[in-house]
Amino acid sequence: MSVLVTGGAGYIGSVTVEALLAAGEDVVVLDDLSNGHREAIDCRVPFYEGDTGDGETLGNIAATHGIKQVVHFAGFISVPESVRAPLRYFENNMGKMTKMLSVLQARGVRNVVFSSTAAVYGEPEYVPIDEAHPKKPANPYGLSKYFAEQLLDWVDSAHGITHVALRYFNASGATATRGEAHRPEGHLIPLVLQVPLGKRPHVDIYGVDYPTPDGTCVRDYIHVADLADAHVKALRYLREGGPSQKINLGNGKGFSVREIVAAAEKITGLKIPVREEARRDGDPSVLIASSEKARAILGWTPRYPGLEDIIRSAWEWHRTNPGGYI
Ligand SMILES: NC(=O)c1ccc[n+]([C@@H]2O[C@H](COP(=O)([O-])OP(=O)(O)OC[C@H]3O[C@@H](n4cnc5c(N)ncnc54)[C@H](O)[C@@H]3O)[C@@H](O)[C@H]2O)c1
Repeated sequence: MSVLVTGGAGYIGSVTVEALLAAGEDVVVLDDLSNGHREAIDCRVPFYEGDTGDGETLGNIAATHGIKQVVHFAGFISVPESVRAPLRYFENNMGKMTKMLSVLQARGVRNVVFSSTAAVYGEPEYVPIDEAHPKKPANPYGLSKYFAEQLLDWVDSAHGITHVALRYFNASGATATRGEAHRPEGHLIPLVLQVPLGKRPHVDIYGVDYPTPDGTCVRDYIHVADLADAHVKALRYLREGGPSQKINLGNGKGFSVREIVAAAEKITGLKIPVREEARRDGDPSVLIASSEKARAILGWTPRYPGLEDIIRSAWEWHRTNPGGYI
């Protein structure tokens, strides 16, 4: 019996496959490589190059590998792109997930661990944000994930398939062998590190007049290895019969854009010039998670909560893999 990991060639998926193997799980990966990397998939793992909307491939995987649990990472992840191309996002993040669930339900799958996001909350009404915070997604990406969470609720009540929807804040950092290589890269820490790598002359800071101590946005960065560990624990929780849950995954601490740049300068030993730009629409000033529920229900605690640990691990990976997975 294997765990199906969709999107296992991507950033968080590939690190989670690494953690699942270390925990003794059998794993199968399905990824269409639209954004992932074949080289990121552990060579011990059966890999199917295909689409979560392809019922035949999914049916074959479920039958061949006796799939009872799924970790569903596959999806599109860019907020600005979702604003420009909402239909593409709803089709992939909702439509193909619906197809996938209908095939897997018919094949007897019991549990889903789902990659949700802090974007389901929208503009925070208070911080730290707990799971009871109002859900008002401010973009198609966040709405597609919020719809998917509700789909999972209905699938639970109709078919008894239980889930843990993990609402990640900002995934960051790397393991010794796997790191962040989105195409194009839209996340702050890899963009900052592209400056000392000589790939860009400066990093843009969008907004320096936010009501934060240094005027730049504050975000909660969580190490990707800690995210992966939470998925291993969520699978066990569901296997032991735990009911469906929505759970935040964050560090509980916020770091500003300027703090990220300063920490990256310290770790790389190089000056990182910044260019101050206007605010972007829809960027809240502060996003910090309460992860009390993850601690209470999953027994999860972040092992790498320090900003320097996160940036050092990312820098090690980017320095040794300057072209990403090539
Ligand atoms: N990176 C973050 O900070 C963050 C924060 C919150 C939530 N998330 C969610 O976590 C998940 C993984 O994020 P990531 O940063 O690893 O992204 P990623 O782009 O690196 O990984 C997603 C993977 O899914 C694959 N994929 C996309 N659509 C597919 C489809 N229809 N069929 C098969 N494969 C498909 C891509 O090829 C890619 O390998 C996403 O669902 C994302 O929304 C990420």
